[in-house]
Amino acid sequence: MATGHIPDAHELTITEPVSSQFEKIPVQVFGQAIDASKEIARRIADRIHFRAAKDENCVLGLATGSTPVSVYAELVRMHREDGLSFKNVVTFNLDEYFPMQPNELQSYVRFMHEHLFDHIDILPENINIPDGTLAKADVPEFCAKYETKIELLGGIDIQILGIGRTGHIGFNEPGSSKTSSTRLITLDRVTRSDAAGDFFGEENVPRRAITMGVGSILSASEIYIIAYGEHKAQIVAEAVEGEISPMVSASFLQEHPHCRFMLDISAAQGLTRFRCPWLVEQVEWTDLLTRKAVIWLARLLDKPILKLTEKDYNEEGLQDLLAEHGPAYDINVQVFRHLQRTITGWPAGKPADLKQPGDVSRPHDDIFPK
Ligand code: PGA
Repeated sequence: MATGHIPDAHELTITEPVSSQFEKIPVQVFGQAIDASKEIARRIADRIHFRAAKDENCVLGLATGSTPVSVYAELVRMHREDGLSFKNVVTFNLDEYFPMQPNELQSYVRFMHEHLFDHIDILPENINIPDGTLAKADVPEFCAKYETKIELLGGIDIQILGIGRTGHIGFNEPGSSKTSSTRLITLDRVTRSDAAGDFFGEENVPRRAITMGVGSILSASEIYIIAYGEHKAQIVAEAVEGEISPMVSASFLQEHPHCRFMLDISAAQGLTRFRCPWLVEQVEWTDLLTRKAVIWLARLLDKPILKLTEKDYNEEGLQDLLAEHGPAYDINVQVFRHLQRTITGWPAGKPADLKQPGDVSRPHDDIFPK
């Protein structure tokens, strides 16, 4: 890993162990996204104060996209209401589309001013954002200087990251190396499709961007990677629980000593402790959890529920369910019958005036009580 600013041990706040044997990066899950954002803003404010007390600059690595918007809103609130000053703050943004004029609707320069910089007392000369207006030939030199400037300031204190559905951090698309630095890249198809709404059509999304590299990001002292919403659940799980791979840039964060995922409950659903909690801890086998486990087992083994055997339950970590509610045959039948009773041509229940004498009510009232 490239070396950056070496913090005093007490400066670092991310020290807790990971939450399950499956997770390779500490993860903090919040009931609501806003609570995660407030926590991140609080940690940033603490660091700014800490540096200010020593008459030092605080260097922040900032991200754009929908995810960090509420973090910035909270920082603006802290500036207005709590007197948080950004006079000692220097910022480096992760990325910018290329080409891009700063006043364009989708420009990250514009985004940062609208959401943060125009509402706080940061000095304009302390704001750094990759320049989308450069001639292509001038980009490499600009990128090298961007890296040098960060290093000369002692490195980034706190880096904020979002994660794209490709697993990108910054715009480090699949294939980016662990040591990559700030550079011009080509955007992935998925990323361009995700940005289509902002550009009124995928065909208008630039094909390139300038981004800080994975290596540049890993040099930060402390990293918060944020994800909200169920559309992020799968890639979060891959980054946190999967193998480290250039195909998921965020997986490189597993090697960072002070990185933490900040998730809302929806973005956490792909993690084993939510998807299959019985693999992580002792659970109480409610009907709902039993159904979840059996359906998971059937999908995992690609077998019909009624064909699941004692061996299947035992080998896939469901011994406890078997011990409590077995034999397997009984559990299979119970779950199968439940699912069977949900199958209907009247998903919301058959209207009373259409019911024929002797009609069986499906879905059964015990499944979807009125
Ligand atoms: P989003 O983007 O916050 O708009 O989801 C995250 C990213 O692509 O890094």
